[in-house]
Amino acid sequence: MRTVRSIKTMQNISRELAARGKRIGLVPTMGFLHEGHLSLIRRARKYSDVVIVTIFVNPAQFGPHEDLKKYPRDEKGDLKKIKAAGGDIVFIPKATDIYPEDFETFVDVEKLTKVLEGASRPTHFRGVTTIVAKLFNITRPDVVVFGMKDYQQAEVLRRMTKDLGYPIRFIISPTVREKDGLAMSSRNRYFTPEQRPEALCLYFSLRTAREMVRSGVTDCKKIEKEMRAVIKAASPTAEIDYIAFTDFHTLKPVRIIKAQCVCSLAVKVHGVRLIDNLGLNVPEKSARRAD
Ligand code: PAJ
Repeated sequence: MRTVRSIKTMQNISRELAARGKRIGLVPTMGFLHEGHLSLIRRARKYSDVVIVTIFVNPAQFGPHEDLKKYPRDEKGDLKKIKAAGGDIVFIPKATDIYPEDFETFVDVEKLTKVLEGASRPTHFRGVTTIVAKLFNITRPDVVVFGMKDYQQAEVLRRMTKDLGYPIRFIISPTVREKDGLAMSSRNRYFTPEQRPEALCLYFSLRTAREMVRSGVTDCKKIEKEMRAVIKAASPTAEIDYIAFTDFHTLKPVRIIKAQCVCSLAVKVHGVRLIDNLGLNVPEKSARRAD
């Protein structure tokens, strides 16, 4: 496995690989890797000859009140994990190379970024799309893999890929969870052992939503009410930022559950803001009724 820090070197390697007919797979990350990230690397492995993993804590996607400096880092540990998961090249650029002083060009997906996460983090997605576009230009992937855990991010990036005409196969990989259902996230380490069970309130509420849909309930208001009760029971002090039911691709709100619908939520548990989501598909009969 090779570690590359220079943009020029990375560009040259990618160009050479493409000239030799190699399929390049890309997995962008901000490091401090867990099983969720590693599952993306394994997935990319299946679709490509060479897997490039990028580690870059991207300043442009952090808001003014979000602490960029506190973002956890563990380069040595990450390199070991990437190697074991089948990564071939790790690209770790410097922030000053990616964003030199005179940098002033941003990529902005206009509408999909206004809802859900974008509503409370107004400049976040502009930072994400800008860095990912730069990484696409530097590494020239044939395939990219993003996680369903950040479902809106994946859809925003899919739209950018399509709109800007990148010839890249776009794969969204399922959320990897702890045994008890908690979605893996670098933020989970902020909980004390006593607080940790309360973080499950998101997963419990999503499971309730899925069970309700399976038993024929299609009214999102009813489901949301039940989800709020489940969250309150599991974590009495949790603050719900949003619970949303949206069409998978357009992110437009739905009032009645139909196929291709995702329930996503953001909840602050003991001061830690967590997000999670689950696809909700309805049995054929109720889907017809809902339409
Ligand atoms: P980061 O939070 O490091 O996540 C990198 C990738 O891992 C994203 O595609 C994310 O959705 C995926 N991921 C995180 N937790 C996961 C889990 N439990 N199961 C499956 N996949 C999971 O997302 C970013 O970095 C940045 O915004 C980035 C796209 C790298 C741009 O800077």
